[in-house]
Amino acid sequence: MTVILHISDTHIVPDGALVSGRLDSAGALAQLVKRISGIRDQIGPVDGLLVSGDLSDDGSAESYARFKALVAPLDLPTYVIPGNHDARDPMRNAFAEGLPASGLLNWSRKVGDIHLIGLDTLVEGHGLGTLSSDCLTFLQDALSEAGGAPVLLALHHPPFACGIGFMDDIGLTNRDALRDVLADYSGALRIVCGHIHNMMVSDLVGHVAISSPSPCSTFAYDRRPDAHVGYMTQEDGCLLHRWDVGFQTIRIGPVAGSGPFPF
Ligand SMILES: [Fe+2]
Repeated sequence: MTVILHISDTHIVPDGALVSGRLDSAGALAQLVKRISGIRDQIGPVDGLLVSGDLSDDGSAESYARFKALVAPLDLPTYVIPGNHDARDPMRNAFAEGLPASGLLNWSRKVGDIHLIGLDTLVEGHGLGTLSSDCLTFLQDALSEAGGAPVLLALHHPPFACGIGFMDDIGLTNRDALRDVLADYSGALRIVCGHIHNMMVSDLVGHVAISSPSPCSTFAYDRRPDAHVGYMTQEDGCLLHRWDVGFQTIRIGPVAGSGPFPF
């Protein structure tokens, strides 16, 4: 069995700052880490922490150092991919042991029984994401290397439209190209992402794609053309992906309710 804890879109800013002058993203992440630490015995062994982008809100070296300090209590090997708020080189410097020394931040690792693949969709200076031809070739090679073994594939921008207009406007530009690569893969494959600060589950050429919530904020699911553009504060937890006889995804909320009470 292999278990990956998946946190996304933490949007950490340097100490003393708030996101948009309002949102205490570091406090929200600290709350989630405390919640996870309190249920580690219940969850059982965890093999690694995957963070699917927007670790930082401003791409600063200070924000990455603060992020690392905030997740340090989890004491897990940490695998990161960039989101549109991240900056490639400060992120590379902060996670030098796990990221390529130059170029795109694509990587592939064997973790327990699965192949964990991370793809870099960042187009610096833009909210939207794209998979460059180098990225797609990297993915093709990594899937070949997996040889039919279970694959957990992570990218920041969802490979599906989410229905929230202002987020789809900054979505993945070439979803069809990703579909073309994945359509040929016959092994067990789960695609995971972030960006939209909502948990959604979509089909993708015969596989399942799941977006993670964010520990600090969310966007209303409002399909109306005149929907308000903005975020809501919401500590919305994270996900746990388990591979055993198949993939299974569990939602972890940031706040525990009271109980248990007898039936
Ligand atoms: Fe994002």
